[in-house]
Amino acid sequence: MHEFPEDFLWGVATSAPQIEGGVHEGGRGESIWDRFAATPGTIADGSDPGIACDHFHLWRDDIRRMQWLGVGAYRFSIAWPRILPAGRGAPCAAGLDFYDALVDGLLAAGIRPFVTLNHWDLPQALQDRGGWGSRETTEAFVDYTAAVTRRLGDRVRHWVTHNEPWCIATLGHEDGHHAPGHRDPVEALRVAHHLLLSHGRATQVVRQNAPGAEAGIVLNLTPARPATMSAEDVDAARRCDGLLNRWFLDPLFRGRYPADVVADRIRRGHLAGPELPFVQPGDMAAIAVPLDFLGVNYYSRVTVRAGDDGEPVPVRTVPESELTDMGWEVQPEGLYDLLHRIDREYGPATIHITENGAAYADGPDATGQVADERRVEFLRGHLRSAQRARADGVPIAGYFAWSLLDNFEWAHGYAKRFGLFWVDFATQERIPKESAHWYRDVVAAGSLQAAASPHASRRML
Ligand code: FCB
Repeated sequence: MHEFPEDFLWGVATSAPQIEGGVHEGGRGESIWDRFAATPGTIADGSDPGIACDHFHLWRDDIRRMQWLGVGAYRFSIAWPRILPAGRGAPCAAGLDFYDALVDGLLAAGIRPFVTLNHWDLPQALQDRGGWGSRETTEAFVDYTAAVTRRLGDRVRHWVTHNEPWCIATLGHEDGHHAPGHRDPVEALRVAHHLLLSHGRATQVVRQNAPGAEAGIVLNLTPARPATMSAEDVDAARRCDGLLNRWFLDPLFRGRYPADVVADRIRRGHLAGPELPFVQPGDMAAIAVPLDFLGVNYYSRVTVRAGDDGEPVPVRTVPESELTDMGWEVQPEGLYDLLHRIDREYGPATIHITENGAAYADGPDATGQVADERRVEFLRGHLRSAQRARADGVPIAGYFAWSLLDNFEWAHGYAKRFGLFWVDFATQERIPKESAHWYRDVVAAGSLQAAASPHASRRML
């Protein structure tokens, strides 16, 4: 059996809008998620990110929890509206101080900060000026990156520009399920481009202000398989893969958008012709700046058939009982295949699995324990895939479980629980779930063997 190496980066991940709360404190400005959640009908349980896990006040305790887990790294995001409450202008000192203290607290605890600059919480003030649909937002992001890296660049060694540009572009601007809730496929293409362009430009700024640090981007990558080998279904899978994965991977690694997906967009009326109106000279080279690492978020894969118009239609391949609470299929071997594919087709220097996890509602039983065996199985299966791919030679350097805490799961509100720690949102009590105990053992041993029996190692925090 292959073990993980000594220097493997074991981590947990969160994001500011999902855990911090404190939205009116420390001079923070309004984010597009504050505004979106305040609009009736947008969040399934009618909740908002106003308090969330109150990490803004409880961060020291949360560091203690990470120390208990034994993780060597913590992936978190900076709330852009804490740094630039009005979008542009002078950075807010209190906002920078908050993250300065968090970073120092992590380092003192022996935990490496792995910082995401944009985990979706654009300042509302920038949205009012066109948001990611406007090219000016790329400049605002570069200025924001400069402000943060000037302050933290001496201590933070891992920087992520954007989290999951597909979600921002597609869920936020094409489907309307996420902030800012637009339904405009033409705008969504522009948004994706501006995200990629600002990634490239901001990466240069990270390198100036944090010499020797590693810079990358995090993509949500979802393998798409055809339901049958019919030409129609195979083409539907190609289209789906193009939209979800290659639209981002190709510009980043090859400096161009995939021609077949451009053709698909022309056919659907989202582009007038092969010229992309939002691309200016120099953009593609800026986007393709070499990455120190690619962050891969993996939750599931999709299987599609061709609808009447040839467009992909998802089909379920497992029984209902095997879906997570998000309705996603548990497909650990999809991660193995994905890691190989990325390595083969794009060859990133390093891959970090920056998110992986599952939503299950399990809460405390009569004795106060949270028996989330399904999450243990999920994590075990996916870590096994990562371990196999590593053993084959795919350069996987880190794994971050999503998430440290149950939190604000965007349009789903607080009902979808991804945490290793169960959170009582009324009292802010946190309880380590069975999966937290299990992960702790895995991290300590650097091996999946050590934690064979879920109940063997139960210790309370
Ligand atoms: C990803 C997001 C993350 C979390 C998980 C479940 O798309 O990056 O914030 O919500 O999904």
